[in-house]
Amino acid sequence: MQRVSNLKDELEFNKAALTNVAAAIEHAHGLPNECYVGQSAFAHERERIFTQGWVCAGFAKDVPEPGGLFPFEFAGMPLLMVRGGDSIVRVFHNVCRHRGRILVDAPGTVKKAIACPYHRWTYSLDGDLTGTPHIGGPGAHSCPGFDKENVRLREVRSAEWFGLVFVDLSEAAEDFEAYISPIADRWRPFNDVPLVHTGADCTIEFALDCNWKLAVENYCEAYHLPWVHPGLNRYSPLEQHRNIVSARYSGQQSTCYAPNLSETSPGFPNAPDLPSFWETGAEYISLFPNVLLGLHRDHFYAALIQPDGPSRTVERFEIFYFDEAVRTEQFAAARADNRALWKSVFAEDRDAVEGMQRGRHSPGFDGGVFSPAMDPPTHAFHVWVANAMLGGRNENRAAAE
Ligand code: FES
Ligand SMILES: [Fe+2]
Repeated sequence: MQRVSNLKDELEFNKAALTNVAAAIEHAHGLPNECYVGQSAFAHERERIFTQGWVCAGFAKDVPEPGGLFPFEFAGMPLLMVRGGDSIVRVFHNVCRHRGRILVDAPGTVKKAIACPYHRWTYSLDGDLTGTPHIGGPGAHSCPGFDKENVRLREVRSAEWFGLVFVDLSEAAEDFEAYISPIADRWRPFNDVPLVHTGADCTIEFALDCNWKLAVENYCEAYHLPWVHPGLNRYSPLEQHRNIVSARYSGQQSTCYAPNLSETSPGFPNAPDLPSFWETGAEYISLFPNVLLGLHRDHFYAALIQPDGPSRTVERFEIFYFDEAVRTEQFAAARADNRALWKSVFAEDRDAVEGMQRGRHSPGFDGGVFSPAMDPPTHAFHVWVANAMLGGRNENRAAAE
């Protein structure tokens, strides 16, 4: 109770500053410093952003085959991704229903049963309790009065889209279809493409000394391109970017995409039957709250933003191609080139986001102001966060319905 009332006090304290965020961009201030450095604001975000509504939690490729198990931490809680015998990805709380041991310690694959290491209770891939050795005494594997059917693994509401796994821990969010359809409709031409992930040369993982929101905000804008990414700006200049602003996502559209591989590398196969925009178009979108997406005619990437306390963020960046042929040796150098390119671009952003984090300790900063021309995507994210912090995501949705 103590913690809840503290959170309420904190929110009262911030309410005016948060309300101002949603003003017209010419008059709005950004989110106040407490939202980036404060432990109680961080706890509040867990309650109102990460455990309400749909949030990206992982990648389906981490459980490539039926029986695949992938334990992970999300919003401070242990979860487990499982690919069932029916190939559907499910998410469970990663805790045994008997005495509460963590059920799965490391990624792996099982044939049919998930076994707890402590007393060997077993669960099916869809969460049913199937084995309870010696539960009725030595040699008796059942027990009068113990109803296995009521002791399933606790499942978390989850859904998959574009290789990403989303969860709704509140179980009260709208249908996933309603949450995802604005961006799914936008990218419909890519609906049925295969997503080919080739392992380590499609993966980058790094940590930043900044609040998670700064990683998202920085991705929303192209404004910093000429100074932070001078190399990228030479072939994908600021002038060729347009703002994308929507209620649930924002970012940039580029109209001059051309793969930037070494001369000897073959180009990657394109997704088939794309509208002509995609010949030279690309889109870089932050899907609120925590996943950064990049879509091109020949590859897609997603960076999962994982908060690790108020001032540290872990990013998992995964690249996907659209044709199985990309797995072959012929494309090995091109895959390495592409990974190196994105790695260097994201590394260039480190100073910016960590510098903004240090700036959030200044009493001379009050959330900042926005460029009405260049910052609408950033402002849209701030408004989304402020509304969630003030009302909670599910409450906001209920009010809008
Ligand atoms: S805690 Fe898992 S079987 Fe006992
Ligand atoms: Fe950048």
